[in-house]
Amino acid sequence: MINNLDISKAMTIKLHDALPEYPILKEGVRRAPKRELTLNEREIKLALKNALRYVPENLHEKLAPEFLEELMTRGRIYGYRFMPKERIYGKPIDEYKGNCIEGKAFQVMIDNNLNHEVALYPYELVTYGETGQVCQNWMQYQLIKAYLEQLTDEQTLAIMSGHPLGLYKSHITSPRTILTNGLMIGMFDNPHDWAKATAMGCSSYGQMTAGGWMYIGPQGIVHGTFNTLINAGRKELGIPDDKDLAGHLFITSGLGGMSGAQPKAVEIANGVGIIAEVDYSRIETRLNQGWVSLVTDDLEKAFNTASEYMDKKQTISIAYHGNIVDLLEYAVENNIHVDLLSDQTSCHVPYDGGYCPKGLTFDERTELLKTDRNKLIELVDKSLAEHFYAIKTLVDRGTYFFDYGNAFMKAVFDAGVKEIAKNKVDTSEGFIFPSYVEDIMGPMLFDYGYGPFRWVCLSGKHEDLIKTDHAAMSTIDPTRRGQDRDNYIWIRDAEKNKLVVGTQARILYQDAFGRRDIALKFNEMIRNKEIGPVMLGRDHHDTGGTDSPFRETSNIYDGSNVTADMAIHCFAGNAARGMSLVALHNGGGVGIGKSINGGFGMVLDGSERVDEILSKSIPWDTMVGVSRRNWARNEHSIKTSIEYNNKCEGQDHITIPYIASDDLIEKTLKNYK
Ligand SMILES: NC(=O)c1ccc[n+]([C@@H]2O[C@H](COP(=O)([O-])OP(=O)(O)OC[C@H]3O[C@@H](n4cnc5c(N)ncnc54)[C@H](O)[C@@H]3O)[C@@H](O)[C@H]2O)c1
Repeated sequence: MINNLDISKAMTIKLHDALPEYPILKEGVRRAPKRELTLNEREIKLALKNALRYVPENLHEKLAPEFLEELMTRGRIYGYRFMPKERIYGKPIDEYKGNCIEGKAFQVMIDNNLNHEVALYPYELVTYGETGQVCQNWMQYQLIKAYLEQLTDEQTLAIMSGHPLGLYKSHITSPRTILTNGLMIGMFDNPHDWAKATAMGCSSYGQMTAGGWMYIGPQGIVHGTFNTLINAGRKELGIPDDKDLAGHLFITSGLGGMSGAQPKAVEIANGVGIIAEVDYSRIETRLNQGWVSLVTDDLEKAFNTASEYMDKKQTISIAYHGNIVDLLEYAVENNIHVDLLSDQTSCHVPYDGGYCPKGLTFDERTELLKTDRNKLIELVDKSLAEHFYAIKTLVDRGTYFFDYGNAFMKAVFDAGVKEIAKNKVDTSEGFIFPSYVEDIMGPMLFDYGYGPFRWVCLSGKHEDLIKTDHAAMSTIDPTRRGQDRDNYIWIRDAEKNKLVVGTQARILYQDAFGRRDIALKFNEMIRNKEIGPVMLGRDHHDTGGTDSPFRETSNIYDGSNVTADMAIHCFAGNAARGMSLVALHNGGGVGIGKSINGGFGMVLDGSERVDEILSKSIPWDTMVGVSRRNWARNEHSIKTSIEYNNKCEGQDHITIPYIASDDLIEKTLKNYK
């Protein structure tokens, strides 16, 4: 009969058998709401047994009731007792213990993702996106760290949904960590079954970058929003490649977690923005950050100031404290021309507080949510309909409206406004307005390979970040394409724009060779001792890493948008080429079952070994996406693939599709009938 003593003796990497003191959970730290708990008694018992697997037997009696209490009151077992007592933040790499540089680098990244300044619900290990976790509980956190301290450069740590399965021998050129999050068997790949699995401690939702430890704070979304806005201007307002949004008005709503990036992005793009927000505390945060320049609840003042700055061709971001519907109706009534229009209220959960209906203040909305949910639903539906008709009028008058990935159009449809659907019946053929990936990000960025490349200076030194900014800038030719010009400006002004929260990190959209050139340059600088080590990575919201038919791959039209082959190939190919960390997740950005997404982390130590890996893996990571988009007949990807084949003759080779004419297809079908 196996006993716990033998088990304990068989492990050298494990949690201590002394009971940690219960930590003080500070007031004022944002806490995750209670998660839905759907477990039956048998499953609750399993959840308890599963959590106790991490803990030596002498602590079971004390911890079993504590874990049960957490499960019943919070919907999950987080194991708060195992949370470190000291402040968690990404320290300089030399302050971590480890047997290889990657083991220490990953600890910097994990701690940065749990830093209170960075993380949404740090006590519940949630970095961002409401539920995106670094790992499931604090026992896993402690154990992962213990493993990373032992990891050598001839081993690979396997992590399944936050659980460190073990350390195994591999090669010096193998990934040091392979991790997956939330992957489910097809028939159970839905939020309901996943919620049970996670409550039992068997699965974790890593969002895009939280579970791969590559989140770097809000600057990632600022760059994406800047790119979206400026390219929307190019596409719809005829702005030339060498110009910006000067003199143009962008109206939107939301100054929350992600939406708060909008005013900063519009200022970097040199445009004029008015952003409606009902919650004053959200406005205050952005005001204190310097991301909005003026606050008013007077619409006349908002539009007059906007017009003054448009005339001067100067930038300003104005926060309108009030409802977006009032703002748009004012623009309609006063015949004010709006160039670009969007919305970033939390319409993925409109009835749970995500959308504040017209006529209610923020506090009244919060109260009604508690007292009369049905009334709130009724008001939300009415407001969404009015919101839609105001947008429609403005669009009829020449405004360009785009959905910003917040499910706004779906919410309007669900509110009963069928005319937002293309076929006016259901959503199977999409909506009458474009979405940002379909219209802008997909064709103008992802199809060329431009995506959210990022890096972290592991020394923690700000001077290293400045040196990397300059080095990255020197690799960009701003005259090649409009996108290159935007990226050049972004990195040139990055320091001035004060975007860093947490570790010394930077995001920079780049294409395949742009990313490779920057990576090699950084590695050379490390070799020459100009800077300390660097960790490279990217968001999964990118060209190749993510199959997500409602977002990243929404501009794939050959029928393959329901497949996930690309994300898996991207992940496996990165592992095969020796990236330091490879991650594969379920549901990043849109929820379980709706996407498969993968990312990587690559530690640069200045060695020639790393040069070798970079020159093969970095182009692959992006070109797998360009190749697939090219096969789906996306024009810009075909163009990029032709250039790639010419450039890489004798080395890489992409299969390019022949294009059959639509007339021929029509004729063939007609003749068959
Ligand atoms: N496009 C992207 O890349 C992207 C990325 C992340 C999130 N999103 C989506 O964008 C949405 C917003 O994300 P977030 O993190 O900012 O959410 P959030 O809830 O933090 O912010 C939304 C804000 O909208 C405000 N609001 C709600 N109704 C309003 C109204 N009628 N008028 C004015 N203000 C109103 C809320 O007070 C809140 O501050 C979500 O649906 C999210 O899924 C998009």
